[in-house]
Amino acid sequence: MKIGTPKEVFEGERRVAMTPDSALQLQKLGYECAIETGAGEAAGFSDAAYEAAGVEILPTAAQLFKAADIIAKVREPNETEAKRLSADKTLISFFWPAQNAEMLELCKSKGASVIAMDMVPRISRAQKMDALSSMANIAGYRAVIEAGNNFGRFFTGQVTAAGKVPPAKVLIVGAGVAGLAAIGTSTSLGAMTYAFDVRPEVAEQIESMGAEFVYLDFAEETQDGAATGGYAAPSSPEFREAQLKKFRELAPEMDIVITTALIPGRDAPVLWTKDMVEMMKPGSVVVDLAAEKGGNCELTEKDQRVVSDNGVVIIGYTDFPSRMATQASTLYSTNIRHMMTDLTPEKDGQPNHNMEDDVIRGATVTHEGEITFPPPPPKVKAIAAQKPKEKAPELTPEEKRAAEVAAFKKETKTQVTLLAVGGLLLLAVGLVAPASFMQHFIVFVLSVFIGFQVIWNVSHSLHTPLMAVTNAISSIIILGALMQIGSGSFLVILLAALSVFMAGINIFGGFLVTRRMLAMFQKS
Ligand code: NAI
Repeated sequence: MKIGTPKEVFEGERRVAMTPDSALQLQKLGYECAIETGAGEAAGFSDAAYEAAGVEILPTAAQLFKAADIIAKVREPNETEAKRLSADKTLISFFWPAQNAEMLELCKSKGASVIAMDMVPRISRAQKMDALSSMANIAGYRAVIEAGNNFGRFFTGQVTAAGKVPPAKVLIVGAGVAGLAAIGTSTSLGAMTYAFDVRPEVAEQIESMGAEFVYLDFAEETQDGAATGGYAAPSSPEFREAQLKKFRELAPEMDIVITTALIPGRDAPVLWTKDMVEMMKPGSVVVDLAAEKGGNCELTEKDQRVVSDNGVVIIGYTDFPSRMATQASTLYSTNIRHMMTDLTPEKDGQPNHNMEDDVIRGATVTHEGEITFPPPPPKVKAIAAQKPKEKAPELTPEEKRAAEVAAFKKETKTQVTLLAVGGLLLLAVGLVAPASFMQHFIVFVLSVFIGFQVIWNVSHSLHTPLMAVTNAISSIIILGALMQIGSGSFLVILLAALSVFMAGINIFGGFLVTRRMLAMFQKS
């Protein structure tokens, strides 16, 4: 079968759904590939590059739709494109079925199968096909770059001969895929980065990226992200008030604000109000990634760069991925290629539209003349959703000291009991066993005791250096065992051989683990 990619017709769209590299991969699945001439030009992929990858170049979109069995594109189809579909064709593209009921109806009437890339469920197995995340990642990165382009200062603080420069303060609202990408970019440029999200479980991720999580002094039963497919649930009016109060406190200090807050299927919540913009310093920048859904900032104008009366720049562009068309096309075409891999388990160039598969079912919005949207909830739970850590109650210094003393007393008591029991047992054995046996037995008991204490009292993170010590001990064991192995007694030979074997496991296991750890740090 043939997979074809037309040139995008949406004004200003520069991405393309198939790159020469992805075409090579699709051919390995048994498909022939075709593009409309010039389809990849705006993204930096020439017709010649496609031809070199074995892709057929067709002169018009009409010819491409006619020749291809599967049409892969970026934007949802327009009416002309949808009318070119037929019962034997499959369309794979962004589709937004909830907002495009008429288009859904048209595709159904044509009998075509439509796979909406925006409907891929957010489950671990589907991450490689998650085009929304690929695009949001780019948007988050680009939002920071765009902010930098409009901001008249450095991100990082500097001490120069010409004076001291303070670091920029950046606030990211919403730490989903786009928000986390923005946090990563902002911290790597050296800005002091703060981030807020209604899902408390992301605090750890935010902090691990070097940003500060903005905590609210407000207790709300937040919904488990997994229950809502990895997305947030709407918050209560009281929570929103507390959130806005916190933002008002932060507004005068922040140089750059990047908003990405979104709850799927709803308008973007207004979180950065007009009075907050007025509190910001002139020259500050707000980048509103949610502009498409009405914007998180009250002054955002879709697809515009506006400057407020007090000199704050507000950017509401909705085409950030298209502004990085080469990167976006590479990622998107890889998402499509993975979708095709799932659709072609036999690698025979024949798609198997398995509606029992969670991912294929979730993304399919029309199939065999039926509308199959909305899909049933996936059987597998969404990603994310770690429970926030239970906060330990705050203790006064006296209470802390008392708790430490109690824990120490308890531990000492256990150890004294164990030592007393051990001593009594040794005494009992000593009364019946010969002196030479006792000498070895005491060394054995002490070794077990020290080994136990060393392993159990060392924290997990220090087990690697501990491995080096245990390797040294293993060498001593092997030496001792080799000295005993020629003793002539069958039992001693057996025990010595066992010791060599077990110490050998430790030594060679150590080598293997070290090798694997080194491989992890090697660039592929
Ligand atoms: P996501 O669903 O992964 O993240 C949204 C985050 O906002 C979630 O972590 C959620 O908990 C949080 N959130 C929801 N309500 C909130 C509130 N009241 N306060 C604080 N946080 C709140 O979405 P993703 O993929 O990161 O996309 C973010 C936004 O970027 C979306 O609006 C999306 O449409 C937009 N986007 C914009 C592009 C552009 O070119 N402008 C391109 C790609 C995405």
